[in-house]
Amino acid sequence: VDTSDEWIYTRTGIRERRIASEQETTATLAFEAAARALVIADMHPSQVELIIVATSTPEYIFPSTACRVQDYLGATRAGAFDLSAACSGFVYGLSMAAQSIQSGAVRNAVVIGAETMSRVLDWQDRGTCILFGDGAGAVVLKGSSVPGGVLASTLRSDGSGGDMLSLPAVYHNPMPMLGPEYLHNGHQNNTVAMNGRQVFRFATQVVADSVEETVLKAGLTMDDVALIVPHQANIRIIQGTAKKMGVPMDHVIVTVQDHGNTSAASIPLALSVGAAQGKLKQGDLIVTEAIGGGLAWGAVVLRW
Ligand code: UT7
Repeated sequence: VDTSDEWIYTRTGIRERRIASEQETTATLAFEAAARALVIADMHPSQVELIIVATSTPEYIFPSTACRVQDYLGATRAGAFDLSAACSGFVYGLSMAAQSIQSGAVRNAVVIGAETMSRVLDWQDRGTCILFGDGAGAVVLKGSSVPGGVLASTLRSDGSGGDMLSLPAVYHNPMPMLGPEYLHNGHQNNTVAMNGRQVFRFATQVVADSVEETVLKAGLTMDDVALIVPHQANIRIIQGTAKKMGVPMDHVIVTVQDHGNTSAASIPLALSVGAAQGKLKQGDLIVTEAIGGGLAWGAVVLRW
């Protein structure tokens, strides 16, 4: 496509991204991430009680990616389902899993964000094909009498903005979205279509508010926040949101330069990088936030 490294870097912050090999699928990436997380959590797969895979790129509507991961892991006592909230899927999944544990329904959960976005891009569309990457990350949540973990969450949506960012399902030709005609004009079927400028504007309006609301719900203030782990869509959105919240950039984990936009996988990947770099310290207050297709957005406040 007609683009340049300079345009991509200055407008998005992206330097590199990963593309899955032919042998890899969203399920195999999700499995690898979950298996590694379980080793770190010192848990045997047979102890897992819930598996949530946040993804927009399942191979099948059913069986769910989560059920395939359950089988690959040998997690014989786990419930498993996929969660569809596009780029916000991991934030939604984290919130759902924590509430399942807090209610006593399950004792633990594996929450995975996994995507093979490269398979659903229109490689002729320079507005999207330069942005997205493949990857997977996972966290293990366990119930504990020690205070901490997920403290509060805020989940929001505005379906009237659905036409700004969409990916048709594969099983039929969907009705066209109400909204700007051009979105699916000239697009290959079953590929991502996005009005980047509109999504950009919306993102910079709503995300900071949902973070502040969530921190307040947890009975804390923004001064208590040690680290923001945002969805990695665009460095300019990350910087703009941090500025709006009054959070300095050295309190923000940024991985968009290495991964591109990996949709639901971006936050667990960023958590993994942050953990490997020693940036996530026990007891730190951490906020994850995301916005994407739906439109759906939200934030989770947690004590690491
Ligand atoms: O993860 C889910 C949520 N998604 C997002 O958060 C994405 C949000 N949006 C964005 O990150 C940005 O809007 C983009 C990176 C997609 C685009 O950046 P922008 O600064 O908003 O650019 P634009 O769409 O306003 O386009 C500016 C110019 C246009 O040319 P003209 O009309 O000014 O002549 C585009 O045609 O840049 C052109 N352009 C490109 N040029 C070179 C658009 N894409 C490219 C490209 N290479 N890849």
